[in-house]
Amino acid sequence: MTTQHFSVITIDGPSGSGKGTISSMLAQRLGWRFLDSGALYRLVALACQNHAIELDNVEAVVTIAAHLDVQFDTRTQITRILLEGEDVTDTIRTETVGNAASKVAAIPSVREALLARQRDFLGEPGLLADGRDMGTVVFPDAELKIFLTASAEERSKRRYNQLKDKGLDVNLADLLNEISERDKRDSERVVSPLVPADDAILVDSTGKGIEAVFQQVYSLCEERGLVKTGAHSAAAI
Ligand code: DC
Repeated sequence: MTTQHFSVITIDGPSGSGKGTISSMLAQRLGWRFLDSGALYRLVALACQNHAIELDNVEAVVTIAAHLDVQFDTRTQITRILLEGEDVTDTIRTETVGNAASKVAAIPSVREALLARQRDFLGEPGLLADGRDMGTVVFPDAELKIFLTASAEERSKRRYNQLKDKGLDVNLADLLNEISERDKRDSERVVSPLVPADDAILVDSTGKGIEAVFQQVYSLCEERGLVKTGAHSAAAI
């Protein structure tokens, strides 16, 4: 695999670590392409649900992953995601789809089927890749690898507040259980487990606001010479 022609920054870590927010902020600030790899696993899970495919029917799930008909519409400020022509931007973010995504993500041949699609996001001026195995498997030659984490308690509290804000009736203890179970499944799976790459820099967001974490990550990009002249100053957030 050759990734040397394009700059890549990977941000891996568990759900609720602030990874998604930090990654998209950083991609925007640098003016780089953005890969939300978790969305691909969520899309596979949703497509299985739409086609009434059981997740233990590995062959059928892999076929879905290999032929995923998806478009990322970046013309609007928030990228709209279309699955078989239908806007599923919000649908893929539900807890049900997230849990199913974690199950399909544990199937080695599904991961393999999504590999080329993820590498297709490479390009000028660079790629910000967000996921679990971006630095270990998909882009092992990335210039900067960050592993963003936070305690399970803090991550479940963040999720609780997000869902409450949406007017949903949620239980904090249930969310903590679900997050702990998903962490266990994601980090204990045989293929591409959720572990930091040997050369990843660990950033712990526990007790920190988004802006403080962004500042820390942006400084790492500056230190590695990844902020080209013309990019805005992080201080301007
Ligand atoms: O980041 P997310 O919550 O949208 O990811 C959904 C699921 O997909 C999550 O349970 C872990 C899995 N995933 C993965 O295994 N590898 C990735 N690169 C990204 C996500």
